[in-house]
Amino acid sequence: MRSLDEFATAKLAELERANLRRRLVDTTRLDGIWVVRNGRPLLSFSCNDYLNLSQHPAVKAAAIEALQRFGSGSGASRLVTGNHPLFAAIEQRLARLKQTEAACVFGSGYLANTGIIPALIGERDLMLIDELSHACLWAGARLSRATVVAFRHSDLGHARVLLEQHRGRHARALIATDGVFSMDGDLAPIAGLAALAERFDAWLMTDDAHGIGVVGDARGSTFAAKAMADGVRAQVPLQMGTLSKAIGAYGGYLCASACVIELIHNRARSFVYSTGLPPAVVAGAVAALDLVAADPAYAALPLAKARAFARRVGLPEAESPIVPLIVGNAEAALQASRMLEDEGFLAIAIRPPTVPAGTARLRFAFTALHPDDEIKRLADIVRSRILDQSQVRADAAR
Ligand SMILES: Cc1ncc(COP(=O)(O)O)c(C=O)c1O
Repeated sequence: MRSLDEFATAKLAELERANLRRRLVDTTRLDGIWVVRNGRPLLSFSCNDYLNLSQHPAVKAAAIEALQRFGSGSGASRLVTGNHPLFAAIEQRLARLKQTEAACVFGSGYLANTGIIPALIGERDLMLIDELSHACLWAGARLSRATVVAFRHSDLGHARVLLEQHRGRHARALIATDGVFSMDGDLAPIAGLAALAERFDAWLMTDDAHGIGVVGDARGSTFAAKAMADGVRAQVPLQMGTLSKAIGAYGGYLCASACVIELIHNRARSFVYSTGLPPAVVAGAVAALDLVAADPAYAALPLAKARAFARRVGLPEAESPIVPLIVGNAEAALQASRMLEDEGFLAIAIRPPTVPAGTARLRFAFTALHPDDEIKRLADIVRSRILDQSQVRADAAR
C-alpha cells in the first residue's frame, strides 16, 4: 500500500530529524559482559543480566536438559494444554523469595502488567501511578479503563493529595509504581506508599523488574531498607516482576495471596489467552533462582559496583545497579554513547519517549562480573569527557 509506506517513511523522517530514530544494531553477546558490535569487542553496560546468570553453566545445563526432555515450545495456554510441573517449581520459589502465599508466571513482564491490572480494576475504579513508571504499567493502566491519575515521581505528598481528591469517587483503588525505576535506578518510597494504601484502602502494586536478585538481600525492593517503616517491612500485596533481568531467563510473574493468584488464573487475559513459557526457559529460571537464594553475597555485587562507579564519577549514591547520567538532549546523549564506544564500552543512549523530553541520558547497568579496573577506567572517562560539560554537571548535582 503506497499510503501506508508513505506514512511510515514520513514518521521515520520526523524521528530522524529529532534524533529519536532507533535502529537495531547486530550485537552478539559473548559472555555475561562482553559483546561484539560492528566487528569490535565492547564491554557492555547496557544489559540487565545483572548477575550474569544467563551464561551460568548450571542455568544453561538445566535449560538444555528441559529442552531435550520436553521440547522447545509449551504448546498452548497453561489452562488448555495442561500445567507443566516446572511451573509449580518456579512459582513456589518465587513465592518463597517474596514471602507471599503464591505466585503466577506470565509470558513476559510486559504481559504480566497488561494482564494483572485489568483483572483487578475496571471502569469504576481509580489507579494512581508514579509518573516515571515503566511503559507496561501504563499499558496495563490504560487497558483497565480505570480513572488513571499520575503522581509526581516518588512524591508522597502529591500522592496523598490526589487520593484525598479522587478516592471517594471510586469503588476500588490501585497504587502502582516501579520498585526500582528502570531509567533512574532509584528506589520507590515503598513504606510511604504502603502507609497511604492502608489509609485510603488502596492496593499497592510494585513492578520489581530491576529489584529481584539485586536489592533487599536479593528479594527485591519490598525488602530494601527504604521499604521499612520503623524497622517493619511494608506490606506490598502485589509484587510483580520479571525473570528476564537478574534471573537471566525470560517471563514475568506476580507474587500475591493465594486467592489473588487464583483470580489471575481466571481473569488475566494475557495469562488465559497466551501460550505458557517454553520448558527450557522455566527450567533455566528455576536453576537461577536457586543460585540467587544460595549466594546473597554474589547478589550484592552489582549494587556495590554501581556505587563504586557513582562515587568515582561524583554522582549521587546508587540505590540499585542502574546509574543514569542525564545529558539533556538526544543528540548529546548519542554523541556521548559514540565516544564511549570508541573507548571500548557499550552504553546506549536512552532518549524520549523512554525518558521525559530534555532528559536523554546514558544508562549504566552494572553486573556482578564487571572488572573493577574497567569500571574505574569508565568512570574516569565519563568524568573527564562527559561530566566536564556544564549542563551535565548541573543535572548530575540534582
Ligand atoms: C520496570 C520494568 N517493568 C517491566 C519490564 C518488562 O519486562 P519483560 O522484559 O519481561 O517484558 C521492564 C523491562 O523490560 C521493566 O524495566
